[in-house]
Amino acid sequence: MTQFRISPSILSADFSRLGEEVRSVVAAGADWIHFDVMDNHYVPNLTIGPLVCEALRPHCDVPIDVHLMVRPVDRIAPDFAKAGANVISFHPEGSDHIDRTLSLIRDHGCKAGLVFNPATSLSHLDYVMDKVDLVLIMSVNPGFGGQSFIPEALVKLREARKRIDAYKEKTGREIHLEVDGGVKVDNIAAIAAAGADTFVAGSAIFGHHDYKTIIAEMRAELAKVEQRA
Ligand code: DX5
Ligand code: ZN
Repeated sequence: MTQFRISPSILSADFSRLGEEVRSVVAAGADWIHFDVMDNHYVPNLTIGPLVCEALRPHCDVPIDVHLMVRPVDRIAPDFAKAGANVISFHPEGSDHIDRTLSLIRDHGCKAGLVFNPATSLSHLDYVMDKVDLVLIMSVNPGFGGQSFIPEALVKLREARKRIDAYKEKTGREIHLEVDGGVKVDNIAAIAAAGADTFVAGSAIFGHHDYKTIIAEMRAELAKVEQRA
């Protein structure tokens, strides 16, 4: 049975009271907290860094899922590990040496993830599966919350699921398949059916007045997928 995880993106939270927002969404049933890092260089927006991660750590008893939209990655990635991150993902375009960056993240005690933009090929996984703990498929172009889901992401999710299942068959090792961008109650079931097991949702959750209700609605949709499987 697939274990589904919901990872609310605090990009859409109220930044003036982030600690409280994180506590509320964890109490409402979040499995992970998605932490979007943007540098106004790799993506045209600027957000939060390791100091904020460290400040939020005591407010959060679930894994912190750091999504680095920065270039370069290697200087800053260990700072997030020290700040309490559990998963650190980066875009292949952000690193000159992808294999080295994956090792760097794991050497600092975190799970390492590779992130694929809508037009980025999954071929970056070809020779590094042994060092990847999570594959993150972007279903929007990175940089902003509140964008619409790009349907082609479903095709890429199915392809990634095949690669991950074949790898698990061979090695027994589990790799998570996460999706990020435009995830809502009305499309989460289709996204899960395409193979995702971990769902980032920013505006859908933090734009709702009741985090518990919206997360429960998402889980109810996911339960339908489980029954069909
Ligand atoms: C976009 C970020 C996302 C964003 C998702 O670059 O990586 O994590 O917060 O927001 P929604 O769920 O609103 O599309
Ligand atoms: Zn993200």
